[in-house]
Amino acid sequence: MTQLQFLVPADPLEPRRPDPYFVAQVDALRHAGHRVGVVPDGVIDGQAPLSGVPSGAVVLYRGWMLNPAGYGHLGHAIRVAGAVPYISRAQYLATHHLPGWYPLIKDLTPETRIFSRDVDLESELRELAWPQFFVKDYVKSLKTGLGSFLNDPAHIHALLEQMESFRGEIEGGVCIRRVEPFVPDSERRYFVVAGVPYAAETDAPIPEAVHTCVKRLGSPFYSVDVALREDGIERVVEVGDGQVSDLVGAWTPRRLVEILESMAQWIYGSS
Ligand SMILES: Nc1ncnc2c1ncn2[C@@H]1O[C@H](COP(=O)(O)OP(=O)(O)O)[C@@H](O)[C@H]1O
Ligand SMILES: [Mg+2]
Repeated sequence: MTQLQFLVPADPLEPRRPDPYFVAQVDALRHAGHRVGVVPDGVIDGQAPLSGVPSGAVVLYRGWMLNPAGYGHLGHAIRVAGAVPYISRAQYLATHHLPGWYPLIKDLTPETRIFSRDVDLESELRELAWPQFFVKDYVKSLKTGLGSFLNDPAHIHALLEQMESFRGEIEGGVCIRRVEPFVPDSERRYFVVAGVPYAAETDAPIPEAVHTCVKRLGSPFYSVDVALREDGIERVVEVGDGQVSDLVGAWTPRRLVEILESMAQWIYGSS
């Protein structure tokens, strides 16, 4: 029978143990009867093999965001162990990177232009002439220093330099988004597992925008963040791969394990 194997990042100081940040999720998964192993940094760097993954298992990662090379190394190590990643590298990038999901849900999310790092962004922003710009790379905004909201195109250079220095790299390229007036604290995260959307609270309604994502996005496990705009329209702020989306808001490890149950049933039922 196919086995479902979860993997979390190893504690960098004690590589046989899970990273303390993920221990609550590991406990919840094990409590529900799932197998959970650890991924040492060397696997993500492509320097070390993965141990403890049974041959034939379907593997789901829960951990830090990985860049395309890191996810590729993890997937390779899983295959070398004779197992299969539940989310392929292509599926991972389709929800983890903005250019993967944006074209499919343009009508649900702020208008965005995607640039490579080496173009003259100041000129591009002047040409756009939007009143304000929201700047991120393919995955993350800048939450310290200058932040991600930009009024003056001349400041784009300093902002990107800060992004590079705080985050180590600009992943993929630069996304320039139109700023929309979101109601403060209205953003909620939804997870979609095998085509079924879930809210953190069992009885919370699922926004129409999330149902639309389900129809258009193909990955078997991703997150959708939705905020209310001041005009009452629910807007998608971002999409993310489910393996590397944090448990924000009211999400708990227990609820995460509960929604993954349908995936586990599907994997166990399909063998
Ligand atoms: N286009 C936008 N207009 C207004 N606010 C935005 C916009 N994009 C993002 N934000 C705000 O900035 C926050 C961080 O942006 P987000 O795209 O989610 O980046 P990150 O990946 O760093 O979380 C969002 O939670 C939202 O409050
Ligand atoms: Mg976000």
